[in-house]
Parts: sequence; structure tokens; C-alpha cells
Amino acid sequence: MKNVVLIGFMGTGKSSCGKTVAQHLGCRFVDLDKEIENKYGMTIPAMFQKYGEAWFRDREKEMVQYWSGQKNVVISTGGGTIKNPENTALLKATGKIVCLTADVDVIMERTGRQGRRPVLDARAVELGDRRAAVEALLAERQPMYAQADYQVDTSELSPLQVAAVIGDYIRKF
Ligand code: S3P
Repeated sequence: MKNVVLIGFMGTGKSSCGKTVAQHLGCRFVDLDKEIENKYGMTIPAMFQKYGEAWFRDREKEMVQYWSGQKNVVISTGGGTIKNPENTALLKATGKIVCLTADVDVIMERTGRQGRRPVLDARAVELGDRRAAVEALLAERQPMYAQADYQVDTSELSPLQVAAVIGDYIRKF
């Protein structure tokens, strides 16, 4: 089986559903953000603070390159992984891309705690409003998320339900 790659905005459930999707399909699970944090022994907000976003994006690209060389893996990406067209091309060539989506209200609720998502936190400071920051980032990224093979709205679904929907889709291939 090709890999299953979960993309989507922050708070759409990529990490929380990914493990269940992998269990459902009987394959391995990897969360790219966690892999980077484990490899460098620091949190993503700490990386942004110490080395900046460009450095983090390079680490993210290295992880995409490594994991797209594997098979039978459910890969949970970060919300911005697909901003790099090379990442998207590689992930598309080696896996089925599933985009998780959610309503702005749900995203607001799931990403409410500050200090965890430096890109959203910085935009919220710049615009003076967290909701406006979510909407602006969503609008910018929409064309990239739209490149997915399949979309699942997770706003009202549990991880188990999301896994079942994705499992049904993947088993068609
Ligand atoms: C980012 C999303 C984060 C993480 C980093 C940057 C983004 O992942 O990769 O903070 O640019 O959207 P989640 O989508 O898992 O929060």
C-alpha cells in the first residue's frame, strides 16, 4: 500500500486521528512534528524561537523526504508542510493525500491555547485578533489543501469515525 498522508490546517485532527487511522488500516503511524521534536530534543515553539521558521521548514522537508521513502505508513503532517511544493509533489507521488478540514469555530476551540502554534500566534499578534488570523491563514493555504485526493470534515466526527471514513476511501484502491 502507498502511504496515507494527512494534511490540513492546525486543529483539524491530523495528529489525534492519525494514530486511529493507522490502527484501522493496520499500518505504522508517524507524526512529522513529533519526529522533528524528538530528533532535536526541543519543542516546535522553542525551535521557532531559537532558529526561526526557515530552519524548521528545512527540518520538516528532511522528514518528508525520509518518510515518503517508506511504505505502509500513515503520515500526519504539520499544517504548513504543504506550503512547500516539493513536499507536496513527493508526498503525492508516494501516497494518497487526505485533507482534514474543520469549521473556523472548531479550529478556534482546538487551537485555543497559545504558545503551541507559533505561526498562528504570530499572525494573531500581527492582526490583533486570533479568529482573523485563522481565517487569513486558511484563505492563503486553501489552494494548497485543495490538492488533496480526498477531504474529510472532522468538525463533528470522533477520531474513530474519521478513521472509518478514511479506511473506506483507502480500501477502494
Ligand atoms: C504549523 C503547524 C504545526 C507545526 C508548526 C507550523 C503551520 O502543526 O508544524 O507549528 O504552519 O501550520 P499542526 O498543524 O499539527 O498544529
